[in-house]
Amino acid sequence: MRFIHDVQPEHDLTYADVFMVPNKSAVKSRLAVDLSTSDGTGNTVPIVAANMTAVSGRRMAETLARRGGIAVIPQDIPLDVVAENISWVKQRPLECDTAITLRPSSTVGDALALIPKRSHGAVVVIDEENRPVGVVTEADCSGVDRFTQVSEVASTDLTTIEAGTKDEEAFDTLDTANHRLAPVIDANGRLQGVLTRSGALRNTLYTPNTDAANRLRIAVAIGINGDVETKARRLVEAGADVLVVDTAHGHQDRMVEALKLVRGAAPNVPIAAGNVVTTDGVRELVKAGADIVKVGVGPGAMCTTRMMTGVGRPQFSAVMECAATARKLGKHAWADGGIRHPRDVALALAAGASNVMVGSWLAGTYESPGDLNHDADGKPYKENFGMASARAVRLRTSGDTPYEQARKALFEEGISTSRMYLDRQRPSVEDLLDSIVAGVRSAATYAGASNLEEFHERATVGVQSAAGFTEGAPLSTW
Ligand code: XMP
Repeated sequence: MRFIHDVQPEHDLTYADVFMVPNKSAVKSRLAVDLSTSDGTGNTVPIVAANMTAVSGRRMAETLARRGGIAVIPQDIPLDVVAENISWVKQRPLECDTAITLRPSSTVGDALALIPKRSHGAVVVIDEENRPVGVVTEADCSGVDRFTQVSEVASTDLTTIEAGTKDEEAFDTLDTANHRLAPVIDANGRLQGVLTRSGALRNTLYTPNTDAANRLRIAVAIGINGDVETKARRLVEAGADVLVVDTAHGHQDRMVEALKLVRGAAPNVPIAAGNVVTTDGVRELVKAGADIVKVGVGPGAMCTTRMMTGVGRPQFSAVMECAATARKLGKHAWADGGIRHPRDVALALAAGASNVMVGSWLAGTYESPGDLNHDADGKPYKENFGMASARAVRLRTSGDTPYEQARKALFEEGISTSRMYLDRQRPSVEDLLDSIVAGVRSAATYAGASNLEEFHERATVGVQSAAGFTEGAPLSTW
């Protein structure tokens, strides 16, 4: 990456401060751009879902990995639950979504509670042999008493798709039947999952992030307190593919000690550690065993660190400097926080990040762990909160005495309650991924790059005024 006219900026910059100019390009098509990463995560698209309670659970992990990214399960979750989640994710199908299932005698109320959990928006009714006998959508339930059995409202005119069917054929089958989705079945007619028309299309555009045994990959965070060595060992035994040693201030002695212990316990698993924003911080973490350094102090949508302390650094410059240092040491950097548009992802990659971590933006999707709520105007949203907020501290310290809890909550540096509205056009993480991937692929072709390494090498960046940024924002976002 270079700055226009090779002029180095006078100030540290964030994403809104910069723009890229097009270069002469020989790249023929956006689809010819390879977005796979080389930092050991296996990502075929450079997106990591943040280790935030309101963002990354098993549905986020499954869905994102199926499309080539990875989610990081937060460090606050009990180890046995995490192990259970890893095992569950590793049993998910690669080419279709997990089905929500109910028995015929379940109620419409049960169906309505479960349908918003998945973007395909349906429940498959199964018999005792796990064979699909009907499909129920929200429309089938409208105006019906909640205690009605689903067998009474399910459509039984089923189109099914056999596992292994080519995606184009599956798409055509759904199109001809005029169905949005179909249960996928094995040779014995047993339910394997659900495929939508857009799912079949996405299968042709994305490559799942899979381990050596062709199962979906998943990452898990570890804090720096307690017996991190045992935790790391048990997570590796449970099948975690990437470990993330995470604390708000990564450039500290306790992090270095924890990181060394985790490295010793997990010699063969990629380890990301952070957060830092300086060259010294990167060097320290790489020396202690990090393969990937996580960069960002205070850019996150739920962060109050900069307002509370004045500490942090504008994210574009932080990523640029830290990624350059990590690269010199033969390691990698993730850009963590502050992503609000696809352009921010493109700029983070141009600055040299190997992957980009996204939190709050993904909290407002069907796949995040929270329940779907509706505001007074009927608009759907999910709750989001920072991991250093009083709320997260309360959840994390539920075993402590009320006095200890109250004392720890004094040091909150995050927002406890915020609403992430579901984008009506893009309510699923897959929809957001479509737009991020489209933006990044296009940015790469503007730069004349056919992969992420070339993109970083060729990107030409300039500094803009606030008016320059506003000029580029479409009218609807003013
Ligand atoms: P976004 O902007 O994607 O950023 O939501 C995600 C990242 O924000 C960080 N994070 C926090 N930082 N107080 C902070 O100072 C918090 O309560 C908090 N919660 C999350 C974290 O690095 C995450 O990946």
